[in-house]
Amino acid sequence: MVINDKLKRSFEYLRISLTDRCNYRCSYCMPKDIFNADYKYLKKSELLTFEEILSFIKALKAFDIKKIRLTGGEPLLRRNIENLINGIKDTGINEVALTTNGSLLSFNKAKLLKQNGLDSVTISLDSLRCSTNKKINPYSNLSKVIDSIYIATDVFGYVKINVVIMNNVNSNEIFDIVDKFKNFNVEIRFIEFMDVGETNEWNLDRVYSSERIHRDISKYFSLIKLTDDHSSTSTKWQLNGYNAKIGFISSITQPFCGSCNRARLSADGLFYTCLFASQGYNVLDTLRKSSDINKLQNDIENVWTRRIDQYSVLRKSSRQDNEHKSKIEMSYIGG
Ligand code: GTP
Ligand code: 5AD
Ligand code: SF4
Ligand code: SF4
Repeated sequence: MVINDKLKRSFEYLRISLTDRCNYRCSYCMPKDIFNADYKYLKKSELLTFEEILSFIKALKAFDIKKIRLTGGEPLLRRNIENLINGIKDTGINEVALTTNGSLLSFNKAKLLKQNGLDSVTISLDSLRCSTNKKINPYSNLSKVIDSIYIATDVFGYVKINVVIMNNVNSNEIFDIVDKFKNFNVEIRFIEFMDVGETNEWNLDRVYSSERIHRDISKYFSLIKLTDDHSSTSTKWQLNGYNAKIGFISSITQPFCGSCNRARLSADGLFYTCLFASQGYNVLDTLRKSSDINKLQNDIENVWTRRIDQYSVLRKSSRQDNEHKSKIEMSYIGG
């Protein structure tokens, strides 16, 4: 059964955050002065178990969900994640993907993930320069992340690389990144710095638009437009004469809420219908107390069919009043 929200968008895709912890501290996501030893992370006992996550997915099967993406924080911090992936595939979900910082992705781990049904991996990399990396992400192990991109290309045949561009931080390194990976089977996705959460000191001056990135790349390469999937976050281009594709994720300048088919499940069992939400719907209690599949289905149907979220569109037209609402953090909900 397909369920539609108030803006006629069907529910097709679930993103699951497996932990709010990460071994990195990217400034746009987990600024290190805030996400320090005193920060209140979720306790282990608060995290959904793999069994609980699988019960939730089984309930969602009624709605024709096609794809699941595992995120964090850093999802590879969850031990034996391959068992969860295996279980998800067993429920009959077509596609399972993973977004990771790449720091924990060894060749053996990548093989294990693939053997258990993982379809694809997306790895974050914001700069090839040690000095910029230290500025954006003080704990980053750059050579390990680059290695993991090669490992993932090898094992999965294809990798998406997420690059968050911030004005005057790494906005002069776009050519370097394209040049480095142009011969590989990758999609390099340039992401506009977004105002997620309340801690990353976002402002419009710090955004470097996709249009500018496109212009910068076009000085050196020719780009051929590819067809985009109906609900894709990115607009895709082929780097003419090379293997690599280029994607632009333009939540600030060209919001894509009109085709937003996704919901999010937090690591502690709250169901969110927008990345910029301030409140989620509690499914933990049902999962933990009764595991009543019919109740879960009714609840999710009720939440989705009332959905009106279009944060980025409203932000762009300055109709978004978020002054009094505290948005959830990126590390908590997983992008
Ligand atoms: P696919 O599953 O392949 O479509 O990848 P994705 O782009 O959905 O996921 P990924 O985890 O790679 O995220 C890439 C960027 O897109 C991150 O900055 C996310 O925060 C952002 N993003 C993903 N989904 C949404 C969304 O629904 N709304 C907004 N505004 N940004 C999103
Ligand atoms: N703006 C844009 N992208 C972000 N990400 C994390 N925080 C932000 C932000 N403020 C990206 C990460 C990761 C993906 C899940 O979200 O780079 O690749
Ligand atoms: Fe960790 Fe990813 Fe957030 Fe960076 S963007 S701090 S790697 S969760
Ligand atoms: Fe979907 Fe919210 Fe992102 Fe818009 S801002 S695309 S509604 S998650």
